[in-house]
Amino acid sequence: MPAGHLTTKHRTEPAVTAHTDARLVRVALLGCGTVGEGVVRLLRRNAEMFERKLGAAFDLAGVADRSLRPNPALGLESRLITRDPASLVIRPDIDIVVELFGGQEPARSLMLKALEAGKDVVTANKALLAENGDEIFRTAAKCGRAVGFEASVGGGVPIIRTLREALAGDRQLAVYGIVNGTCNSILSVMTEAGTEFEDALRQAQESGLAEADPTLDIEGHDAAHKLCLLVTLAFGVLLKPARVFTEGISRITRADINYARQLGYTIKLLAIAKDDNGAIEARVHPTMIPRRHLLADVAGAFNAIYVHSEALGPTMYYGQGAGQLPTATAVMADILEIARHRRAGSRGGAHALGYPAGAVRPGSIKRMDDVVCEYYLRFMARDQPGVLGAIASVLGRNRISIASVIQQERGVGSTVPVIMRTHEAPERNLKRALMAIAKLKMVESSAFIRIEERL
Ligand SMILES: NC(=O)c1ccc[n+]([C@@H]2O[C@H](COP(=O)([O-])OP(=O)(O)OC[C@H]3O[C@@H](n4cnc5c(N)ncnc54)[C@H](OP(=O)(O)O)[C@@H]3O)[C@@H](O)[C@H]2O)c1
Repeated sequence: MPAGHLTTKHRTEPAVTAHTDARLVRVALLGCGTVGEGVVRLLRRNAEMFERKLGAAFDLAGVADRSLRPNPALGLESRLITRDPASLVIRPDIDIVVELFGGQEPARSLMLKALEAGKDVVTANKALLAENGDEIFRTAAKCGRAVGFEASVGGGVPIIRTLREALAGDRQLAVYGIVNGTCNSILSVMTEAGTEFEDALRQAQESGLAEADPTLDIEGHDAAHKLCLLVTLAFGVLLKPARVFTEGISRITRADINYARQLGYTIKLLAIAKDDNGAIEARVHPTMIPRRHLLADVAGAFNAIYVHSEALGPTMYYGQGAGQLPTATAVMADILEIARHRRAGSRGGAHALGYPAGAVRPGSIKRMDDVVCEYYLRFMARDQPGVLGAIASVLGRNRISIASVIQQERGVGSTVPVIMRTHEAPERNLKRALMAIAKLKMVESSAFIRIEERL
């Protein structure tokens, strides 16, 4: 019985390297940081439950991490720890490699190497899968191995399996995700406490919710990575992050949030995917949504994915989108599922993306110019007669009709804010109108936020 064997009564027995016991499933961990440590905790804490569910025990056979020190309380003895991940992923006794390094390299090469060596792989690495998922899933199919990636979108929220399996009997029409807890926390603080963006970001950094360099989160790139995976699962279309229109939350002001409230909206960073008769919309941007909508109540670091299916209608999946144990539960669910397939002698990964290997192809992605939305517009204009009329006339020439206007408080010096909500128009028309309005001497600046009224 090996040293890492996770049934409590066997934990201290000596290690063996040969794969001799069919009642063991041997797991190697790449990375024992936040999520990796959570996986070790769950393996230890729930060892007996997993053994009952699987009919075999998990054996944590090795952990590759450049900075990990032995931690006897966690059962991480020095003989389990290695600085040589390349050797670990091809060790003959390993069944499942769990990649929790993050980033592109060496995670990509190690996953490919593990698959080619006959291991199944579990990962939480959305950045890697969004950029290189096609190569990884093709290699898995070629090698007859599985790739589990439940933790890569929504942390502990089981959205990957839901789209691939539970909703597989229906056609998906649209997916709206609050999939970045950092942005959602910042926007929640701005909304609830009336804070400006920079202060809310600083608070998020101080509480550990935002990285020291928050760019990946606040500029929407992390959400775009997750959207690529959601698009593939929902529509069977391969999408790379470069093709996702991505705009972050750093230009949202406290004033925008207040005007949104007056107009009956809440601002959220949404990852939006729609299938418009084969043309896929894929965009990440701050979005005004009706305050009465379920997604408007998703506050703080929570995530939610709202799916519109043709026959079923809307469903929503909500929960902890990050954090050690929530994310580790999703990793463990993949490990367990793969282990079940291994023990049954079946291939669990043949349809990891919900389609046979090779059936997921690049699709037609709608240009932002063709996307139709309603818009919130904010102009800072000179406080003089005729301003409203001049702006409205440019909008009208570009076939944008105004649904409502707020013009109430005096601005700084001689400027006043002019706030408008429009009816639906293609983004091409809005951009043309804003370029023309920028030439009006009486308008000093403009900003807009897209509205999703009927999600
Ligand atoms: N944290 C979350 O809540 C969460 C949620 C969903 C998904 N994820 C995903 O889960 C993955 C892991 O995230 P995490 O938050 O656990 O990261 P983390 O805390 O930074 O842990 C990564 C661990 O791997 C080690 N490592 C990284 N590259 C290595 C290399 N080349 N060789 C040896 N060791 C290496 C790191 O060592 P150093 O500390 O020395 O760098 C660290 O101990 C990422 O793909 C992330 O996107 C995380």
